[in-house]
Amino acid sequence: MKNDNLDPLILVGFMGTGKTTLGEYLAKNNNLSYVDLDAYIVEQQQKTIPEIFEQDGESGFRKLEHHCLKECISRFDIISTGGGIIEGNDSFELLKYLKHVIWLDCDLEVIYDRIKNDSNRPNANNKSLFELKSLYSSRVSRYNEIAFIKLNSNKPLSELQHVIMEELMCE
Ligand code: S3P
Repeated sequence: MKNDNLDPLILVGFMGTGKTTLGEYLAKNNNLSYVDLDAYIVEQQQKTIPEIFEQDGESGFRKLEHHCLKECISRFDIISTGGGIIEGNDSFELLKYLKHVIWLDCDLEVIYDRIKNDSNRPNANNKSLFELKSLYSSRVSRYNEIAFIKLNSNKPLSELQHVIMEELMCE
């Protein structure tokens, strides 16, 4: 259930940066409601992400993602989003107006090792490090534009939580 006194915390960042791990950790430690947006989409559609990409294309996926993002913003305190959410203009515009968007980032080599050949990630599957780098570079300015803080996920979860709480208390 959503806590009405809180603006939702939205985790954004490239695939494989640990948005789900951090989101689950924050929710559990602070007794807040949590959703992974990809998991929500999969449950709503009763289809896997690759099936949605295959049947409706990436643009179809982005429409669903935007619809589900709007629902989740009103229902959950913490939301982990998919790495490409900023590719959808509607979602990007919506995220611009939210106060607590956190950009989670880490070294691309680490990301590559985590996600290469992941058949459940159509935008990573069969991509070389070079191709992934260029996708990453094309997204950076949008993450940067919407985020109120950027964190490096190679730090311990407890430290990331501490930084986030400090930032929220400074408001
Ligand atoms: C995507 C990232 C995925 C998922 C979909 C598309 C992307 O989420 O939304 O496969 O285009 O970067 P993760 O960031 O959780 O892998």
